[in-house]
Amino acid sequence: MTKLLYFVCCFIPVFNIVNSVNRDFQLLHQWQFLNYTWPNYFTYKHALENRHYIPENNAPTGMKIYGDRIFLSLPKFRPGIPVTLAYISLSNGTLKTNELLTPYPNWISNYNTEKCKGFQSVQSMEIDKQGQMWIIDGVRINKETNCPAKLTIIDLKKNGMIIHEYIFPNEIALTHGGFVNDIVLDDSDGGFAYITDASSIDPGLIVYSLKKNYAWKLRDPSMFGEPEAVGFVVNGIKSNNLSPINGIALSPEGSCSEKTLFYCAQSSLKFYSINTKILKNESLCQTDQWRNNVTLVGKKQAQSGGLMMDNKGNLFYTLLPLYGIGEWNINKPISSSKVIYRNETMMVWPDSFAIDDNGYLHLMSTSINEFTNLSINLVIDNVKFRIFRYFTGTKSYMY
Ligand SMILES: *[C@@H]1O[C@H](CO)[C@@H](O)[C@H](O)[C@H]1NC(C)=O
Ligand SMILES: *[C@@H]1O[C@H](CO)[C@@H](O)[C@H](O)[C@H]1NC(C)=O
Ligand SMILES: *[C@@H]1O[C@H](CO)[C@@H](O)[C@H](O)[C@H]1NC(C)=O
Ligand SMILES: *[C@@H]1O[C@H](CO)[C@@H](O)[C@H](O)[C@H]1NC(C)=O
Ligand SMILES: *[C@@H]1O[C@H](CO)[C@@H](O)[C@H](O)[C@H]1NC(C)=O
Ligand SMILES: *[C@@H]1O[C@H](CO)[C@@H](O)[C@H](O)[C@H]1NC(C)=O
Repeated sequence: MTKLLYFVCCFIPVFNIVNSVNRDFQLLHQWQFLNYTWPNYFTYKHALENRHYIPENNAPTGMKIYGDRIFLSLPKFRPGIPVTLAYISLSNGTLKTNELLTPYPNWISNYNTEKCKGFQSVQSMEIDKQGQMWIIDGVRINKETNCPAKLTIIDLKKNGMIIHEYIFPNEIALTHGGFVNDIVLDDSDGGFAYITDASSIDPGLIVYSLKKNYAWKLRDPSMFGEPEAVGFVVNGIKSNNLSPINGIALSPEGSCSEKTLFYCAQSSLKFYSINTKILKNESLCQTDQWRNNVTLVGKKQAQSGGLMMDNKGNLFYTLLPLYGIGEWNINKPISSSKVIYRNETMMVWPDSFAIDDNGYLHLMSTSINEFTNLSINLVIDNVKFRIFRYFTGTKSYMY
């Protein structure tokens, strides 16, 4: 009876969605739990026994594609996560279930976390046009690591060889309390990364200049969660935290203008934007004047996690309490935005996007609210993680 009531109540639309269509999102990967290509059975058994590997605690958040590999990041929200960066193979269209993940670049760089060498707790990454992966290793919200947050650039064409490392100073990303969340890349003026820090203590937007090897941080009320957008429910779990800035997306190269960065707080319906000409000017960012250039773009249909822009200015965004995906072309009014997919069983906490070389947008849903809320008792039962693809015929914003 309760189950029936739950079913009925959940199909009453909370939002009035005029523009809603279900586009073809094809399911490619699904997992009930994550397991790895262990070096041998002994290592696997040993990791299970000493709880270095607790299968039910492992969950992916970031996803990016390079060639025929899908890279996944696995932040340490809970204990027992032996690998924080891994890959699987890009599917040819056939559904794969519980595929094993292979640590990247290798076990040592994931396992060897002593003296802050190796990867600690990675939430997301981005891959530039040169095949270099920029990895933000900055989930610092618990005792799983005591190392400062860092940005590591590795070369995917050279088996993940490290080419650059930048340690975030504490005033940019907190070693205890930082939550470096998502990253987009801008190849202008020697290379910039724009990075969200979803820290509950010091949320903000980090700008990193590769040329200067230096970072600064912008903090603004537009990056904070809004009390009226807190308390939404996904899969029976209420999100009661005021969650700050999370998703970001960068516009493609304009013909004569600088690019525009879009961002949103997780507990908010609002999209904001700021011109990258402002962000790249460090001395301007140290004053208060840049705040005049923050633009309220408009409202989305619901709260979002990840965002992604393609090279035609189509901005895709996740709609958490709607179990759906939205699309808006930034060259058109935001009122033309559409919900392009909804499914309460399939699209549970959609979060991360990536575009492959064949014109497919990939999207991963992760049920991550179960993993970040420590009062939830995790068990291995239903499918929790899914990767879908949707044909757009476009490339990522960087191309
Ligand atoms: C996990 O993967 C290893 C191979 O790396 C395999 O031997 C083991 O049986 C797997 N565990 C489960 C529960 O599937
Ligand atoms: C995809 O690869 C699998 C083997 O991994 C094969 O059985 C299947 O036929 C392939 N499907 C397509 C559409 O090429
Ligand atoms: C965790 O989940 C429980 C059960 O849904 C909920 O009552 C609690 O508020 C959640 N905690 C946070 C911080 O969202
Ligand atoms: C940065 O902003 C300052 C203050 O508005 C301005 O004087 C300066 O010309 C700007 N620099 C660049 C490179 O645009
Ligand atoms: C930033 O805001 C100032 C003041 O409103 C305006 O004069 C300037 O053109 C803006 N710059 C950009 C790049 O939008
Ligand atoms: C959700 O997706 C499943 C699997 O494709 C399908 O069976 C179901 O009908 C969908 N539900 C809705 C409401 O579209």
